[in-house]
Amino acid sequence: MFRRNYRDFPPPPDYHERMIIDPSGLSGAQRYFLMTATIVPRPIAFVSTVSKSGVLNVAPFSFFNGVSASPPVLAVAVGNREGEKKDTWRNIEETGEFVVNVVDESLTEAMVLASGDYPPDVSEFDVAGLTPAPSEKVRPPRVGEAPAAFECTLRETVRIADEPPGSTLFLGDIVRVHLRDGLMKEGRVEPGDLRAVGRLGGSYYCAAGDALFTRKRPKV
Ligand SMILES: Cc1cc2nc3c(=O)[nH]c(=O)nc-3n(C[C@H](O)[C@H](O)[C@H](O)COP(=O)(O)O)c2cc1C
Repeated sequence: MFRRNYRDFPPPPDYHERMIIDPSGLSGAQRYFLMTATIVPRPIAFVSTVSKSGVLNVAPFSFFNGVSASPPVLAVAVGNREGEKKDTWRNIEETGEFVVNVVDESLTEAMVLASGDYPPDVSEFDVAGLTPAPSEKVRPPRVGEAPAAFECTLRETVRIADEPPGSTLFLGDIVRVHLRDGLMKEGRVEPGDLRAVGRLGGSYYCAAGDALFTRKRPKV
């Protein structure tokens, strides 16, 4: 495995040379591009849900992270589409359940395909050729091809923007974790084995696998 020494990293530029931006002076698009190009790499939640009428849905969201281990909680923020709630938003709100599937390199094409603006009656599982695999505690299926998946029940909804429908943060209690056979070794999952894909700015992605390096935290 390729490891880098801290001396390989260039020194930071003098802080006087930095640009200071007031985000309230930017357009929504400028804010989006600034944040998504600098808060990187972002993990990708490939979120599967089911509508009230039973249509399966799966779409990627990178305003996502785990936020607590005890209790196990994760958070996904879903935006709007031309003033309408995205299918994922509506389904989580209506059913209170979702599954976060981890995207590895082999799932990238299907994940991108599933991110298209398909109407609510179209299942991205069909569009992207993904296999719905049964969950144990919630109704939405997992993505069978995903190396890991988190079954979640809705814990709390945090409305972020006032103007309807804006953007909403969903906090989910993780009630089951699924791991592909062989991923857990001696009680641990090696980051390099998962080869999870991260989202960078624009259409750029990275895969955790090749250029990993380690650092020990100081014992104080
Ligand atoms: C890698 C990736 C990350 C994305 N992250 C987000 C996100 O954090 N929030 C969001 O609202 N949309 C995000 N999108 C766009 C949604 O996936 C897209 O709007 C999708 O059509 C929503 O599907 P739905 O209507 O079935 O919920 C992302 C797209 C991609 C490809």
